[in-house]
Order: sequence, then structure tokens, then C-alpha cells
Amino acid sequence: FNVPEPKNEPVFDYAPGSPEKAKLKEALKEARSQQVDIPMYIGGEQVKTGKKIPLSPPHDHQHLLGHFHEGDKGHVEQAINAALGAKEAWETMEWEQRAAIFLKAADLIAGPYRYKINAATMLGQSKNAYQAEIDSACEIVDFLRFNVKYMTDIYSQQPPISGKGVWNRLEQRPLEGFIFALTPFNFTAIAGNLPTAPAMMGNTVVWKPAYTQIYAANVLMEVFRDAGVPDGVINLVYVDGPAAGEVIFDHPDFAGIHFTGSTAVFQTIWKTIGNNITKYKSYPRIVGETGGKDFVVAHKSARAKELATGLVRGAFEFQGQKCSAASRAYVPSNLWEDVKKYIQEDLSTMKMGGVEDFTNFVNAVIDEKSFDKIASFIDKAKEEGLEIISGGNYDKSKGYFVEPTVIVTKDPMYKTMCEEIFGPVLTIYVYQADHFEETLELVDQTSPYALTGAIFSQDRYAAEFATKKLRNAAGNFYINDKPTGAVVGQQPFGGARKSGTNDKAGAMINLLRWVSPRTIKETF
Ligand code: NAD
Ligand code: ALA
Repeated sequence: FNVPEPKNEPVFDYAPGSPEKAKLKEALKEARSQQVDIPMYIGGEQVKTGKKIPLSPPHDHQHLLGHFHEGDKGHVEQAINAALGAKEAWETMEWEQRAAIFLKAADLIAGPYRYKINAATMLGQSKNAYQAEIDSACEIVDFLRFNVKYMTDIYSQQPPISGKGVWNRLEQRPLEGFIFALTPFNFTAIAGNLPTAPAMMGNTVVWKPAYTQIYAANVLMEVFRDAGVPDGVINLVYVDGPAAGEVIFDHPDFAGIHFTGSTAVFQTIWKTIGNNITKYKSYPRIVGETGGKDFVVAHKSARAKELATGLVRGAFEFQGQKCSAASRAYVPSNLWEDVKKYIQEDLSTMKMGGVEDFTNFVNAVIDEKSFDKIASFIDKAKEEGLEIISGGNYDKSKGYFVEPTVIVTKDPMYKTMCEEIFGPVLTIYVYQADHFEETLELVDQTSPYALTGAIFSQDRYAAEFATKKLRNAAGNFYINDKPTGAVVGQQPFGGARKSGTNDKAGAMINLLRWVSPRTIKETF
């Protein structure tokens, strides 16, 4: 079989004076000047309910970008029926044709849609140009192209052994029923991957994004339609999460969920599925990537400057609203004064503001609820007299802005060392430089999550020791690098423990969850 060998999509840097920057600015201007009226998509029909929910940029909440039409349980029912109705034609289509559709979607995003989708991510989620480029252009394109390659590998696997007069085959069928793709606010790339990975393998999908993701999700849906995804294969509904869940998880044809979001929601969903298990025709596939409390630990041999840069980038890119963001750090006492100085220097140069000014590194957090939650952690730390070495201020008068905040604690079990905040807050515990082994124990035991983590060390033995000792503490582990920024095809991404089922996004293991093989023996 012959599909193009994927390469990672090159990242535009939007440097001053570049034509790419001019085009993106134009797309932003156009998006800001319009008011979109976003429908749901069910069975290829655009559905407008008239119940219009306003959309605004998180960094400029008085500006109206438009509305989306909110649906109800009846629309979820319709979307399920549309998915089931489209299934036979889709699953019996040659897989090469499905591959062609998703390769075309990748080319559309890399080409004509690039600026539009980046502008939508910037305005809808308050990401700066470079972050939007990584998320909504490059990572989605990579997911699509690499998944097509893995799909090819799956369909091209060696058949089982056959004997004389016998031919054994293994057929990779899609699951029987429909798949529910449930996506979070923080990555357009995840919205790109969660419905398409099961669809690629011949499944049909009901997709429900977080409301704060709809502005960019709508552009993605346009791409899927332009690429030739047939009506009913991906159905996009805007319905309150629990209400949608009530219909989906009660349906006998529910065949699986592809979820990314918080641990609490995933656990609720898993329990509901468990309670309903006798209703389903098949045991549903449950694939979920959830919360994190990602760590950076340094050995006394680490380089202070590298460590500080890793902490600042790992904790504060994307306003810390990344499941992989560094949010607790363990710094040895011999490095602390230098690390502190470098962090303060770095953060003092970073500008905060709207995404339209490309010199702003820090933008707004997603919404008022997140803002209030993050602010309450900062307030509590202040009240309790913790040292705050940078940031600590916030303001929601124009947008939901929170300064990158670095808290220092003497208690390694302090709440901001243990709980997911999902914002620009890093907590640092300074440990006695000779207590490395005990500190690794703490790193391992402090949080129930195991998504990402990093060790900084120039001592090869110490790095190796930490890698072994922390083998269950992270699904993605980094040596001398920040714990963020996994690239599809290079660092398959996903966590264990309370961080998810670790079915690595953008990897063959993930696509295998969306098939149910049939063995066929023929004798002659
Ligand atoms: P969330 O859990 O609040 O929402 C995720 C989705 O579930 C949304 O579409 C929401 O509407 C829906 N939902 C909420 N309650 C529901 C219910 N009872 N039944 C059905 N659907 C329901 O997550 P969020 O705030 O959008 O995203 C942030 C979270 O996602 C963080 O915890 C972050 O760590 C996690 N995340 C994890 C990864 C990863 O790869 N591990 C990646 C990105 C985000
Ligand atoms: N995959 C993203 C990262 O690695 C979330 O940072």
C-alpha cells in the first residue's frame, strides 16, 4: 500500500514583516469584524435552533464574535440516528478512500484554511499566534497525516498463519454502533483528532465540544465537509455536557467514547457507562485523556539557566492551560538562588495582553469560571503567607488576565503542589540538595496523576535513576527538557493513573481502539 510517508508540518514563526504574519493579521481582522452564526451539523444539515449563545474572545469579553445555536437532548438523538444511518456506506467504503478524505483535510488546513483556523483559535481560546500555529495548524495536520499512516499499517498487517487447504484472515472491522467524541476547550488539535481517529477506522461519530471551543470547532467542521467527509459521519452538536451524556450513555448502540477533559468528568462518565452496561449491544471502548499535575524535578548537577527556562516555558506557555503544563517543581537548594533570579528575569520581560498584538506572550485564561478558580488559589497562598516570587496579580475588567505566578512553599504537600489548577501558576519546593532520592519519592507520591514530568540533570546516573524511580509517575517523561510540547510522530502523548487510559494520541495504539477484528477461516 502506498500513502505518503508523513513529515511534521513546518511551523510558521510569524516573524515581524513576514508575509505569513500579514496574512494572519488580515484573517484576525476579518474574523473580528464579522459576527458568525454557528449552526450544529447533523446528518449533513445545518441546524439552527434559535437558542443563540454569544461567543467572545477571553481577552476581550465585551467584543462579540457571534453566536452558536444551542441544541437539546432531541438533537443528540437526531445526531445518533444520523451516525447510525451513515454507518453502512462509510464502513464499507474502501479504506483508501477514507484515507484520501483525511489527507485532503490535512492539506486544506495546512493550506487555504491555515490563517482562518489559527485566527479562530487565537480569538476563541486567547492563544498567541505561535501557540495557535502549533495547535490548530501543525498538530491537527500531523494527527491526520500520521494517523492515516498508522491506519495503513493496521490494514496492511501480516495475516495469521495459514496451513494447507486453509486460508486464515484477520479483518479490521469498525466497532458496531456509534462513537461519542467529547472534547475540551483547550486544544483545537484535540478537537481535530478525537472525532477523526475513530472515523478514519470506519466508525461514525457524534461530536460534542466544550462551548468555549465551538468558535474554532466550527471552522474544523467546514474543513471536514470541504474534504468530503460524507453527511452523517461526523455530527457536531452543541448541547450541555451532562444532558448530552444522558442520551448517549443510555443508547444500546453506544460503542465507545473518545474523551479528553477533566478527571472528575471522566470518572462520572465511566461510572454511568458501568451502571448502564447491560443496555449496550457491545462493551463500549472507553478512551480518555484527563487531568495532570505535571512535575519538574532537578538534580543538584542541573544547569540553573536551562532549568529556569524549562520551568517558565513549561508552566506559562498557553497560560498554563495545557494538561501537560509544569505546575510543581522540586529545585535543589544549591541551585535555588540562580534559578529564582533567572525565572524573575524571564518573567519580567514577558508582556501580557490580547492576541492581536503579536508581542504579547501571555494572553487570557479561557473564561470567568477558570479565572475565579485560579485567582482563589493565588489568594489563598497570599493569605497563608507563602512567598510569591513573581506575578500574583489578576484582572478581569477587559479580559480574563492572570499574571504568570510563582509560589514557593516549604510544605511539599501544599495544595498547589497537589491539585490541578489549570492556569498560569507554578509552585516550587526547594529541597536539600543531598536529599535527591527522598525527593523522587515525594514526586511520585504527591499527586494521583501521571501525565507528564521532567528531570533536569547533568549527572547521567542521577537522570537514569530518576527515570527508573519515576517510571509510573508520567506517561510522557522528559530528560533535560520541559514536560510540554509533544510532537505527533515523535513523542506519542498520554498519561496513566488518574491522567487517563494512556491510549497515546496520534499513535497506532489509539487507532487500534476503534476496531474490533474478525477472524475468518476458510478451508478448501
Ligand atoms: P471538562 O472535563 O470540564 O469538559 C470536557 C468535555 O466534557 C466538555 O465538552 C464538557 O462539556 C463535557 N462534559 C462535562 N461534564 C459532562 C458530563 N457530566 N457528561 C458528559 N459530558 C460532560 O474539561 P475542560 O475544562 O474542557 O478541559 C480541561 C481539562 O482537560 C483539564 O483537566 C485538562 O487537564 C484536561 N486535558 C487533558 C488532556 C490530556 O491529553 N490528558 C489534554 C487536554 C486537556
Ligand atoms: N500534547 C500537548 C503537550 O505535549 C498537550 O504539551
